[in-house]
Amino acid sequence: MAEELRVLLQYADQINPESADDYVKVGGYKGLEKARSMDRKALIDEVKKSGLRGRGGAGFNAGMKWSFVPQDAPIKYVVCNLDEGEPGTYKDRIICEKNAQALLEGMAICGTAISSKQGYIYCRGEYPFVVELLKNAIKSAKASGALGDFDIEVRMGAGAYVCGEETALIESIEGHRGEPRFKPPFPGVEGLWAAPTVVNNVETFACLPNILANGAEWFAGIGATRYPGTKIVTLTGDIENATYFEVPTNVTLRDVIFTLGGGVKNGKKFKAVQVGGTSGAFIPEQNLDTQIDFDSMGSIGAALGSGAVFVLDETRDIVDVVTRISKFFEHESCGKCNPCREGTFRLREIMEKVNAGRGTTQDMDNLLLLSKVMQKAALCGLGQAAPIPIESTIKHFRYEYLRKI
Ligand SMILES: Cc1cc2nc3c(=O)[nH]c(=O)nc-3n(C[C@H](O)[C@H](O)[C@H](O)COP(=O)(O)O)c2cc1C
Repeated sequence: MAEELRVLLQYADQINPESADDYVKVGGYKGLEKARSMDRKALIDEVKKSGLRGRGGAGFNAGMKWSFVPQDAPIKYVVCNLDEGEPGTYKDRIICEKNAQALLEGMAICGTAISSKQGYIYCRGEYPFVVELLKNAIKSAKASGALGDFDIEVRMGAGAYVCGEETALIESIEGHRGEPRFKPPFPGVEGLWAAPTVVNNVETFACLPNILANGAEWFAGIGATRYPGTKIVTLTGDIENATYFEVPTNVTLRDVIFTLGGGVKNGKKFKAVQVGGTSGAFIPEQNLDTQIDFDSMGSIGAALGSGAVFVLDETRDIVDVVTRISKFFEHESCGKCNPCREGTFRLREIMEKVNAGRGTTQDMDNLLLLSKVMQKAALCGLGQAAPIPIESTIKHFRYEYLRKI
């Protein structure tokens, strides 16, 4: 029987998220104090030992990422990814609204580890109220002295999905058009204004205060062994409890949907769930006993991604849903690389044809072939992931395509 485990959201609605004093009263800023008492290597080793992996989608080990930053560089930056453009995802907004000081503390811990004095939070353009909240939270933290000489500024996006990709985000902060860069060099070596830069997700940063305050072993002991800790999942679609939950990473998808989520809305039957946002795979009933951790999701050909859980009931037309998703990707492709610019256009074109009942089985083969090319050849994760909803539904819901054909 799955239950929530509130670590990041433990004091939700009990403290004012803007107030550093409130946060200190519930044990806040103890992690940063501990971090400052450690040397750089010991601090990074502690984060590595905790097993904390990125919560923004790629699941990279946070301590490992920090260790790539060259120590001798004169200027380094800490960047927080609050772009949260993935449809169905709103966990980072919730973290800010309930526990903004933990995010600031986490960024300052990272700043201590890489000896950076400057952080930036890149906030989704559709969250103007979060920008205000964060500015007030930063003011309060600075006034209380908690952040020491670490400064944080908030920058606002303008609604482009691709600006969540870390290098496009960096371009955007620099004032350029938001397009991904070629990697390598990775931001840890050459990032914002060519200086070494750590980019982490809001949830990743917000995990850090407790890791430092309670120790790496404590964190490593929660949830799944290879992706420890908690995860905030956001439930949308045909689900009774369309809300968010913080759960240990070893709960199963079935628990999230049927125990916490209350099951499919209006007593209807389950058809599919798309996990990780619009770029995630559609998962059928037989895979629901999979744990939501990064590796377990990977083992069924899906991805945990941002932790969005989008449920479809038995009445939903999968081909129609996927056609709409293909329009989203065509619209959001930045156009920098050919496989994505042309590929998202063709995927949408073929999906519309199939959805309108004018498709052939050759179209399905073409969709699968194009999927392979895009996954291998697109410059960034947008073009690489755009075909995943199509590929996964042709695999698991082939009969729905054939019925339209
Ligand atoms: C098209 C695209 C959109 C992305 N959007 C986000 C986002 O909104 N938030 C986020 O944290 N990561 C996003 N990412 C992943 C980032 O590039 C990066 O991996 C992440 O911010 C690193 O933080 P983490 O290691 O803490 O997860 C996106 C990636 C791609 C390709």
